[in-house]
Amino acid sequence: MIDAATRVAVDLTDRSYDILIGSGLIAATGAELARRFPGSRYAIVTDETVAEHHLDSLARSLTDADLGFSTIVVTAGEASKSFSVFESVVDGVLSARLERGDLLIALGGGVIGDLTGFVAGVVRRGMRFVQMPTTLLAQVDSSVGGKTGINTRHGKNLVGVFHQPTLVISDTGTLDTLPRRDFAAGYAEVAKYGLIDDAGFFAWLETHWKDVFSGGPSRIEAIASSCRAKAHVVKIDEKETGPRALLNLGHTFGHALESITNYDSARLVHGEGVAIGMVLAHEFSVRMNLCSPDDLARTRNHLDAVGLPTRMDQIPGSLGKADDLMAAILQDKKVKRGKLTFILTRGIGKSFIADDVPPEVVRGFLEEKLTG
Ligand SMILES: NC(=O)c1ccc[n+]([C@@H]2O[C@H](COP(=O)([O-])OP(=O)(O)OC[C@H]3O[C@@H](n4cnc5c(N)ncnc54)[C@H](O)[C@@H]3O)[C@@H](O)[C@H]2O)c1
Ligand SMILES: [Zn+2]
Repeated sequence: MIDAATRVAVDLTDRSYDILIGSGLIAATGAELARRFPGSRYAIVTDETVAEHHLDSLARSLTDADLGFSTIVVTAGEASKSFSVFESVVDGVLSARLERGDLLIALGGGVIGDLTGFVAGVVRRGMRFVQMPTTLLAQVDSSVGGKTGINTRHGKNLVGVFHQPTLVISDTGTLDTLPRRDFAAGYAEVAKYGLIDDAGFFAWLETHWKDVFSGGPSRIEAIASSCRAKAHVVKIDEKETGPRALLNLGHTFGHALESITNYDSARLVHGEGVAIGMVLAHEFSVRMNLCSPDDLARTRNHLDAVGLPTRMDQIPGSLGKADDLMAAILQDKKVKRGKLTFILTRGIGKSFIADDVPPEVVRGFLEEKLTG
């Protein structure tokens, strides 16, 4: 059983669930599942890389608790959020004769969580699933909130459902095998929670980030604070009709950068795009006389200190012209009455949804940034 973990409650009436956070939780997972879901069987969905590092310990833990389970391993990487891999996972779940009361376990990063959650959302019109996130991004962001889905040739995450997990178990020890670049990318989302509405948390990160990276006690604290922040936003706006959009701070610019670098992870990964995007959002806010240059400098300095890119010219290769970036932004966004919706800021911890940003002002700003 897991009793020494930090617990964050996600309060969504009949869809409420716990997030358990701590080091070494995989080993205690079997007993915890046996206690919570007596009589259930499981299918573990994971990717090849995660399987190599962490599947044995999870399988042992389930076996020790006398739980029946099968294992479905997919190729690592974003390409597995596809119709064909979705079909093979559905097939694996049905072949294992899992029934409605049984559970899927998503062991992996955001790709595995999104894919498995979508399968769980639709197989037999909805099965329960447990998120066991193994990347920092997944532990602080994608495993919480119930957005699931896959990509299509028309774009990312265009097919999916809202389907909340039944339990999230975040073993922070699994992050020790994560490459530093991926850890830093996930950290961009951690810093984001401070920048959105918690200046105290941002200041705490400025002091404690080294301990977060090296796996000290601050790591669990940072993950728990991030989950609390996301859980709060999801509680007040589960389906993103309003304030949940604040979680997109830095993401309009970030997604556009991901898109024009063709989602080539050698050039840019999501969190790096978000880091550059958050700095651009602050710079743009300074330009609009909303934010002080000091708060922009603090944001940039912190992201820079942890080793994240903060400027577009740090992305290898050409980014093309401002018009290309602008086209990518317009593809990602709905333009309402000729205006764009952006997350802007009045300073650290003071982000807000601005729905009246003129596209030509953004274009001019990008033009200037790209030509240095
Ligand atoms: N559902 C949501 O709310 C939400 C939010 C943000 C992002 N996402 C999605 O999350 C995905 C990105 O997630 P990600 O960054 O976790 O990517 P990922 O799942 O592809 O993981 C990144 C890489 O790290 C490897 N890996 C995972 N855990 C590891 C570990 N402990 N040790 C060593 N290697 C490990 C994986 O095999 C993969 O190669 C995107 O598809 C994005 O759309 C979803
Ligand atoms: Zn993100």
